Amino acid sequence: MNVLFLAPNYPPEMQDFTRGLSQVGARVYGIGDGPVGLLSPKVQAALAGYRPGRLHDRDETLRAARSFGVAFDRVECLWEPFVELAADLRECFGIAGMPLDVARGFRDKELMKERVEAAGLRVPHHARARTADEVRAAAAKIGFPVIVKPIAGAGSADTFRCDDQGALEAALQVTQHVDEMSVEEFVDGEEFTYDTISIDGRPAFENVAWYRPRPLIARSNEWVSPQVVVLRNIDQPELAEGVALGRRVLGALGMGTGYTHMEWYRKANGEVVFGEIGARSPGGHLVDQMNFSSDVDLFREWARAVCWKSFEGRITRDYNVAIIFKRAQGKGRITRIDGLDEFLRKYGPHVATEQLLRPGTRRRDWKQTLLSDGFVVIRHPDLAATLAMADEFGAKVQLFAG
Ligand SMILES: Nc1ncnc2c1ncn2[C@@H]1O[C@H](COP(=O)(O)OP(=O)(O)OP(=O)(O)O)[C@@H](O)[C@H]1O
Ligand SMILES: [Mg+2]
Repeated sequence: MNVLFLAPNYPPEMQDFTRGLSQVGARVYGIGDGPVGLLSPKVQAALAGYRPGRLHDRDETLRAARSFGVAFDRVECLWEPFVELAADLRECFGIAGMPLDVARGFRDKELMKERVEAAGLRVPHHARARTADEVRAAAAKIGFPVIVKPIAGAGSADTFRCDDQGALEAALQVTQHVDEMSVEEFVDGEEFTYDTISIDGRPAFENVAWYRPRPLIARSNEWVSPQVVVLRNIDQPELAEGVALGRRVLGALGMGTGYTHMEWYRKANGEVVFGEIGARSPGGHLVDQMNFSSDVDLFREWARAVCWKSFEGRITRDYNVAIIFKRAQGKGRITRIDGLDEFLRKYGPHVATEQLLRPGTRRRDWKQTLLSDGFVVIRHPDLAATLAMADEFGAKVQLFAG
C-alpha cells in the first residue's frame, strides 16, 4: 500500500495522520512546504520518502510525485486548500478515491449548496456573485439580513453579516480583493458540526459538536472565549434531524471514503439548515476532542479507512468534551495567567489537556488562528457539568499581555 500524502507535516495535526498511515501498514510518501530537516521527528519516522514542493504549483507537485518512481495506491490530503489537488493527482495516476468533480462539490460553496439543494435538502437561500452589483442584486433578492462570504473561504475570513444596505456597502469595501462571493440568507439559530469517517459513503464514525457561541460571533469579538463541545449523546432528539441531514448530504455530494466535516444550523423553530462541508478532518483540535470522548485514535482509524476500508475504533462515547480557547488582554507577550491554579485544583481530574501560552510567549493573532493564546480541553460524562466547567474556565481564567 503506497500512499502519497500531501502536506504531511503542516498543519500540525497532519503529523498524527502521517503517523497513523504508517501504523496501519502503508508506505507513506509526503510532499509539503519546507525541507526534510524541518519535518517533525514523528513525520520523519513515518515517511518512506519526502519531497519539498510548493503545493500551490500543480505541475511542480506532479513532478515531485513522479520523482518517487513509485506506483501509488492512494493520494490523500486533509488540508482544505489542497483537497482538490489530491483529487486531480488521483485522476492523473488513474487510481481509486474521490474524483475531482466530487472534491469540487466539497470545496465550492455554491456548487455544494446547489447539489445539496438538488437532493431536496434545506440550504440557506443563496447566490453566487462576481461583482459588487451582483452582490447587491443577490441581497435585494434574498432580503436582509444576509451573509456575504468568499466562495472558497475558511476561518470565517472576509465573512460578514449585513443587516441593511449600509452594512452591505461597508462589506463590499473591505472584500474587494475577493474574486467570487457567496451571498446567503442569514440563518438565525444554534450552530453544530457533523463529522464523519466514512467508508464508501457510509459513516463508520459520526460526531456532533456544538459551537458556543456561533463561530462568526466568536471570531468577531476578541473578549469571547470560544467553546466547541463534542456531544456525548448524538442520539438525542434535538440532534436527530441534523444527523439525518448530514447523512443525506454525504449521499448528495457523492462521498466515498475519508473524513468529512460539516456545519449545520438549528433554528429556534427546530428547522435544520445545511451550512457547509469539507472532505477533510476538522481543525481546531476537534479530532483530539473526538479522541478524548471515547479514548480512541481517529488519526489512525482514518488511515485504516482510506487504506483498507476498515474501522476498528471502539466508540464508547464516555464523555462530553469541551475545548475553550482564550485570548489575552493586552498586546505583545503574555505576562501572567490568573485563575488557572485554582481551576486545576477544583477540576484537575476533568482536564484532558491544558495548553495556554506561558508568560514570555508572544501572543498569537486571534483573527488568524482559532487557537488564540491557547486552550484547555475538559471532559465529563454529564453535559451540564461539562458546560458549567467550560463557562467557569472562560470567565475565571484570564491571560494578560503587555
Ligand atoms: N447563511 C448563514 N447564516 C448565518 N450564519 C452564517 C451563514 N453563513 C455563515 N455564517 C456564519 O459565518 C461562519 C463562517 O461561515 P462558513 O462556515 O461558511 O465559512 P468558513 O470561513 O469556511 O468557516 P470555517 O470557520 O468553518 O472555516 C459560520 O460558522 C456562521 O457562524
Ligand atoms: Mg465554517
